[in-house]
Amino acid sequence: MSDFAELHFGGEVYKLPVVEGTENEKALDISKLRGQSGLITIDPGYKNTGSTESAITFLDGEKGILRYRGYPIEQLAEKSSFLEVAYLIIYGELPNTEELKKWEREITYHTLIHEDFKVLLEGFPSNAHPMGVLSSCVTALTAFYPDSLDPVRSKNEVRISIVRLMAKLPTLASWAYKNEIGQPLLYPKNDMDYCSSFLRMMFATPAEDFKPDPVVVAALNTLLILHADHEQNCSTSTVRIVGSSHASLYASVSAGINALWGPLHGGANQAVIEMLEAIKADGGDADKYLAKAKDKDDPFRLMGFGHRVYKNFDPRARIIKKAADDVLGKLGVNDPILDIAKKLEEAALSDPYFVERKLYPNVDFYSGIIYRALGIPTNMFTVMFALGRLPGWIGQWKEMRENNEPIGRPRQVYTGYNERNYTDLSKR
Ligand code: ACO
Repeated sequence: MSDFAELHFGGEVYKLPVVEGTENEKALDISKLRGQSGLITIDPGYKNTGSTESAITFLDGEKGILRYRGYPIEQLAEKSSFLEVAYLIIYGELPNTEELKKWEREITYHTLIHEDFKVLLEGFPSNAHPMGVLSSCVTALTAFYPDSLDPVRSKNEVRISIVRLMAKLPTLASWAYKNEIGQPLLYPKNDMDYCSSFLRMMFATPAEDFKPDPVVVAALNTLLILHADHEQNCSTSTVRIVGSSHASLYASVSAGINALWGPLHGGANQAVIEMLEAIKADGGDADKYLAKAKDKDDPFRLMGFGHRVYKNFDPRARIIKKAADDVLGKLGVNDPILDIAKKLEEAALSDPYFVERKLYPNVDFYSGIIYRALGIPTNMFTVMFALGRLPGWIGQWKEMRENNEPIGRPRQVYTGYNERNYTDLSKR
């Protein structure tokens, strides 16, 4: 044991080994603590708990650093393609030309969805939220591909599930949208790149084709890269914990989609736009809403602000803010809510409440504004996030399986009644 911490409890001294990561992050290994001392640790929301050792994503919340497999997010966002980044996250290295071609070919080959999915989609009411539809469809993949559900015994089943998910999620996402607006479902076009084919499935109709603007395609590519992984966040931890029971990759990713949906996580991008719209409709008074966010008796929170890990700035938000300006400028879109967003950000960043609590704009503060400019409807924003986060969920699930991690099963401190006797109904 090279380095350790001592815990003094009940007259005994327990030595807790220190684990160190490649970026010198240190952690106490308490995995044997209960066996030795009877103690467990408690940490609601896992604010100070590392659930795993992972070699995929490094982030330093204080310095605003984010890297996938060692590569800075700024470089990947500028130079890479989403499928290239997906390969990097899932397989550990940037692909060479041959590997990238093969990866793109395989994904292109699997983009179609079984025709019976149409029956499934018809069963949803038209006002169903596309996130619920998407997660249901991903679960339904287990029924259509029973040949690839075994995450333990067959590497090939895992490999084909990875390709199918990467290939089919854009098709399913666009179908969830088309179903909602009552338009015919469109098929992918395999001579188009990943982002262009998705945009075409969203916006073309059998009556009129749609050729995505290269500015829009490039912006979507950047947004997907920025969302591709974020270490042990709520949805990724969900994917890992579901997968730890040896559930299939489809079942695990479907659980991740549901976890992402909540407004405190990926659902924030939709909530931000709804908030900005509400502020605009109410006269555009940013100060009034800042006051509401600070009032502890008011449940209102400034959506798109604050982050569990980033306490200085969110590097993704910086890239997105600049991209929002570029995209809106190039597309000639003049969105009044961008001005409200900027006013709100400026006011919050100089307000002691936000400064003291280190609350800064997160990735979702500006992403919704770009999605709007790209023509994506508001209730599809979190679906867009899911498309981006898919490689992260897959890579983290794969790492968890390859490390043969044990089933995720936290403990608790019980605070309920002590033993008591059953009382007959007549005596209650
Ligand atoms: N508006 C107003 N006050 C806030 C906000 C906010 N957006 N976020 C945090 N605070 C305050 C809390 O009230 C708390 O104040 P207190 O210390 O006086 O009680 C303090 O800041 C700390 O906040 P916590 O909720 O304890 O921080 P936690 O790490 O648990 O939550 C979270 C992080 C969920 C992101 C939170 O900041 C939030 O709800 N933000 C708005 C939703 C959002 O934008 N989510 C997207 C996150 S990014 C992503 O998932 C992709």
